Amino acid sequence: MSEVFDREPPASPKAELLVAALLGGAAVLAVAFAVLLVADRHDTQLLGLTLGGAFALAAAALVVTARLVLPRERAIEERPELEHPEERPSLAVPVTRRRLLAAAAGAAATAFAAALAVPVSAIGPATSDPDPWRRGRRLVDEQGTPLTAADIALGSFVTAFPEGADPRVIASPVVLVRDDPGKIRTRRSWAPQGILAFSKICTHAGCAVALYRKPTYEPTSKPPALACPCHYSVFATREGGKVESGPAGRPLPQLPLAIGPDGELRAAGPLSGSAGPAWWSIRR
Ligand code: FES
Repeated sequence: MSEVFDREPPASPKAELLVAALLGGAAVLAVAFAVLLVADRHDTQLLGLTLGGAFALAAAALVVTARLVLPRERAIEERPELEHPEERPSLAVPVTRRRLLAAAAGAAATAFAAALAVPVSAIGPATSDPDPWRRGRRLVDEQGTPLTAADIALGSFVTAFPEGADPRVIASPVVLVRDDPGKIRTRRSWAPQGILAFSKICTHAGCAVALYRKPTYEPTSKPPALACPCHYSVFATREGGKVESGPAGRPLPQLPLAIGPDGELRAAGPLSGSAGPAWWSIRR
């Protein structure tokens, strides 16, 4: 025998409809978030609005469900042994639109799964980075002015881009340094007059390689190297950008250079590997 001493009124059909509508709205916004990502619309405000709105509507649906849909009651039940458990009286106030609510919850869960799957699928090595470097392409400065071998002084550090290409592409920026040609140990033919070019994007996490270590007195100093200030990966310029120290997992891609009859610097081919950060070192 049990005695219910505190029972809320049963769920109203209106509350159930409200929950279904909120879950439906959450599903629509979550799908919109996934579609924006797939369509490459990286409008962060729109992405934030859609994903944040989806979570807000889902949270509202849970609150309404807890307060107005689920039965809430307190009962004291004496528990004599029952011969047949199915005889136990049910105290639950039935939810009248179970199917509708189950369908709305399923749609919302599926939409959230899609919204999670799209960004997760983008993690990892890019397999189709455009490499704008081609044989014969001139190297230009930020203003688009072609660079000549005379512009690269010993010890200087110059940033260059491929002429006519999008400078925002991750493989576009390279750094130019000049060294003693006789001291370059790897890919000597890629460095006419000792001028070396490497991708400016660190292979660890994608910061700009912004430091050049130039020894002042070679017998007692370390050889020249490019360094990334973010976590201090150091790349040996005389050895094809090999990682000398730091967390980077692979060398800095090198660009083969040629010097035209007019002294202009030109690419002699594409980069030696994919520019940009590695993913557990899974990249060329
Ligand atoms: S991003 Fe360059 S060392 Fe980490």
